[in-house]
Order: sequence, then C-alpha cells, then structure tokens
Amino acid sequence: MSTQYYTAASLDGFIATEDHSLEWLLPLGDIADTGYADFIAQVGALAMGASTYEWMLRHAAQVQAEVGAPWPYTQPTWVFTHRELPGVPGADIRFARGDVRPVHAAMQAAARGRNLWVVGGGGLAGQFHDAGLLDELIVQVGSVTLGQGRPLFPRRLTQPPLVLSAVRQVGTGFAELRYRVPRADTAGATTTATA
Ligand SMILES: NC(=O)c1ccc[n+]([C@@H]2O[C@H](COP(=O)([O-])OP(=O)(O)OC[C@H]3O[C@@H](n4cnc5c(N)ncnc54)[C@H](OP(=O)(O)O)[C@@H]3O)[C@@H](O)[C@H]2O)c1
Repeated sequence: MSTQYYTAASLDGFIATEDHSLEWLLPLGDIADTGYADFIAQVGALAMGASTYEWMLRHAAQVQAEVGAPWPYTQPTWVFTHRELPGVPGADIRFARGDVRPVHAAMQAAARGRNLWVVGGGGLAGQFHDAGLLDELIVQVGSVTLGQGRPLFPRRLTQPPLVLSAVRQVGTGFAELRYRVPRADTAGATTTATA
C-alpha cells in the first residue's frame, strides 16, 4: 500500500490557474497514453480538497459524457472542506476536515491493501507529507508554463531530497516523473517507501 500524490502540473509547478482552470492541461495529451489506467486500477481510496471537488462538480456534465456517470470514481473519496458541500448521487463521497491522520487511517481500512490517491491540491498533499504519510509523488509534467497558479506542492523539501524512481515520455506533451518520499528511520539512516 502506497499513499500517492498523482497529478499533472505545468513545467513551472502549477496544477491549475489561479482561477482553477484546467483548459491548458486537456489538449496536452490523451489520458489513454499515460499510465493512468494502470494507476487507478490499483487505487482503493481517494482524498481531495474542496477546490478540486468543486471543479469536479462544475464539470459533472463533461465527466458524464466521457464515462457515463457524473462521478468517475468507484472507490470511496474523502473531501476535505470546512463548508457544507453537496454530494453526487450514487457516489461514495465522505466529507472530512482538520487532521489528515484519522482520515488516512479510514482510507487505509477502506482500501484493503490497495493504494491511496491524494488527488490534490498541493496544500492537501503537503498536509499528508507533514504527517509523514506520503510515499510517492507521480507528476505528469506538461509542456507548458503558467507563470502563476495553484501550486503543485507548497513545501520546501530538500533534505533528504526526493528519490526519482521512474521517468517516462508521453508524446511531446508530458514527462511522467515518479518520486519516492524518503523517510528517516530510527537509526538516522534514510530509507524510501516501496510502492
Ligand atoms: N493538474 C491536475 O492534475 C490537478 C489535480 C488536482 C487538482 N487540480 C486542480 O487544482 C486546483 C487545486 O485547488 P487548491 O490549491 O485550492 O487545493 P484543494 O486542496 O483542491 O482545495 C483547498 C481547499 O480545501 C479545503 N481544505 C484543505 N485542507 C483541509 C483540511 N485539512 N480541513 C478542511 N478543509 C481543508 C479548504 O477549503 P474550504 O475551507 O473552503 O472548505 C481549502 O481552501 C483545483 O482547481 C483543482 O481542480 C488539478
């Protein structure tokens, strides 16, 4: 079981524009050419922040046209918010707030050994990392820059650095980068979580 922050980002490190648009992302490549199908098949539970969830709600008609339902995931999804947000009929959506640790435990129980996907945004992925719960970052780096926007991962993570474990070119629109998050063990040595 691995807790994975899987996302796409611009080359300069943004996952959406400031006004939460993903229009720049969709023309960059076909999702069928990426590792997404293999990735999602191994996911047992998801977590996302309120803005990401609201993007899904705003684009429910588009999702419906693509996958035949307004919500694309069959796995339980925890949405972090301080507000009362609507659910999606037929979808297993659970609302949470505050500490990510009890939610991570609940996700683990629900996932039954499969991976946990932190969908985003970057701040929520950072909260999982702060709690020592993030094992991997998998980033589809798009061949565009945005100048500003919603951040990929608003943390300073330098010592120890991430461990680059895989690089894959997806056409001319993406480079898929896979990193392990190193953990300091009790003896002080650095280890990395395995997928
Ligand atoms: N490029 C990609 O592949 C990709 C992937 C994922 C997301 N996105 C996009 O990136 C953008 C991300 O938006 P964002 O940076 O605002 O991040 P976000 O995580 O989607 O939303 C942040 C909001 O989530 C709520 N939240 C976060 N942590 C919480 C906690 N511990 N307890 C309670 N509430 C919490 C807060 O909302 P409230 O306090 O208002 O409830 C917070 O303002 C979205 O537009 C999304 O569509 C892109």
